[in-house]
Parts: sequence; C-alpha cells; structure tokens
Amino acid sequence: MNVVMKGEELMEALPANVFAEKVTEVQHYTDRLFRFRITRPASFRFRSGEFVMIGLMVDGKPIYRAYSIASPSWDEEIEFFSIKVPGGPLTQHLQKIEIGDVILMKKKPTGTLVNDALIPGKRLYMFSTGTGIAPFASIIRDPETYEKFEDVILTHTCREVSELKYGQDLVAQIKDDPLIGEMAEGKLRLFNSVTRDDFPIKGRITDLIENGKLFEELGVPPLDPAVDRGMICGSMEMIRDTKILLEERGLTEGANNRPAEFVVERAFVG
Ligand code: A2P
Repeated sequence: MNVVMKGEELMEALPANVFAEKVTEVQHYTDRLFRFRITRPASFRFRSGEFVMIGLMVDGKPIYRAYSIASPSWDEEIEFFSIKVPGGPLTQHLQKIEIGDVILMKKKPTGTLVNDALIPGKRLYMFSTGTGIAPFASIIRDPETYEKFEDVILTHTCREVSELKYGQDLVAQIKDDPLIGEMAEGKLRLFNSVTRDDFPIKGRITDLIENGKLFEELGVPPLDPAVDRGMICGSMEMIRDTKILLEERGLTEGANNRPAEFVVERAFVG
C-alpha cells in the first residue's frame, strides 16, 4: 500500500522551492471530477490563467503534476479543479484528500493562457473541455478581463451533463458577486455543449465552430481576427483540432513575449 506522508514528517523533507499548504475545502462532482482549495502562502503571486506544479509525497517520493490555478489572483486561497484517473500516479491519491491534509506546491507559476499574451480585441473566447475549464475559472474572475473585452464567452464541453456543474455554479456565483458581478454583467456568457448525453446543444466544440452553431446560438458573427481573441484548454487532441480551426480563420498564435490573437494550453494530468 502507498503511504501518503503528512504533517511534521513531511515539513522536514521539504526542499526550498516548495510550499506545503493545507486543504481547506473539497467538493466532488462526479466519479471523474472534483475541486479543492488550499491555503495561499503570503508570498505566492501569479497571473490569472497560469499553472503550477502541485503534488503529494507518496512512498517517500514527491509526485507532481501541472495544475492550472482556478482561483483569481486576488483570492485568499488557491483553488484547483481535477480529474480522477483510476490508477493515475497523482490523482489516485489526490482524490482522497480531506480538509487539513497537506498539498505540496512548487513556488514558481507559469503559463501562456494569460491576458498579456493576447493583443487587444473586442470579444474573448475561452474554449474548454473537461478540466480544461480550470484556468478560465481564474480568468473570468479577474477584473482585467472585463476591462480588456466587451464580450467574454466561455465555452465548456463535456461528455456528460453532470460534468458541466463546476462551470455553471461558478458563473452563477460571479453574477451574484458584488465586485466582479457588476463588471461581468452583460459581458460574461457561458456556452455549454455535451457529447455523450442528451442536452439542448450536442457536439464537440470543433464541430460547433465548423458548422456555425456556436455563433448562431450566441448571436455573433463568425470568428474574425480583427476583433476576436481566443484561448484554448483541453486535451492534447482538442487543443490541436481547435487551434487548426482558429488558424484557418486567420487568427495567429501568441505567447508572452509575442502577443497575438489566440493562445493555447494543455490541462491533462494523471
Ligand atoms: P467526445 O465525447 O466526442 O470524445 P475528455 O473528458 O475525453 O477530455 O473529453 C471532454 C470533451 O472533449 C468531450 O465532450 C469530448 O468529446 C471532447 N473532445 C475529445 N476530443 C476532442 C477533440 N479532438 N476536439 C474537440 N473536442 C474533443
């Protein structure tokens, strides 16, 4: 049986580039998805949309994976949204965490899914599947997003209806939030589709871009590099296929040191 190290024993084994933080909240959505929050070290700074390596000590060795930070940079805690992979080196243990347990977090966040990597535009599309919604959970709670864009569209596609709940709850909370709610009013829209359950809008986001259903439903013109900006996060295949569609429509990929019309990230963990 694997032993997950906790408490004092763990603190002594920690290298200087790692924080040890306590779990403050855990919420399970389905047998594949859960969300958790940890304490935030006072010195930890990040830009909304970035990821960080988080891990657990298992059998005396740390196991880390890259996780997008799902909370906004102003939040007092750090939130993550995770998949549970049966037998996954990290997630088979991570899915069992409880309040008070210790999570390891490397000190240096990084990532390309940040506002700085996009040139100014009118409409921001955040295309996500599965846990790929995590970085966007941060970005849609960041006031800068609403300062930079008139129209903020989060698309979230999952296999099953129950997997949409995290994003739906989040958008509902934002609308009720005294600060962000006002900024997001009339700007933030959530577009959901499902691929393996009955749902009003069925299909992969790639198909809905290609057949125009996405734009029809939103009541907006098709993608236009002059005004539209994009961020993509999902499985490797989803990122690849969505990126091709954006490029075919004239958008170019940007980076931190070379902002352009869209950026991509990967959010898969094992
Ligand atoms: P599908 O059910 O047709 O595979 P996953 O949990 O496997 O990451 O999938 C999350 C969602 O992403 C599912 O709705 C899945 O659709 C969809 N998906 C998987 N591969 C792609 C792809 N290459 N392009 C667009 N969507 C995809």
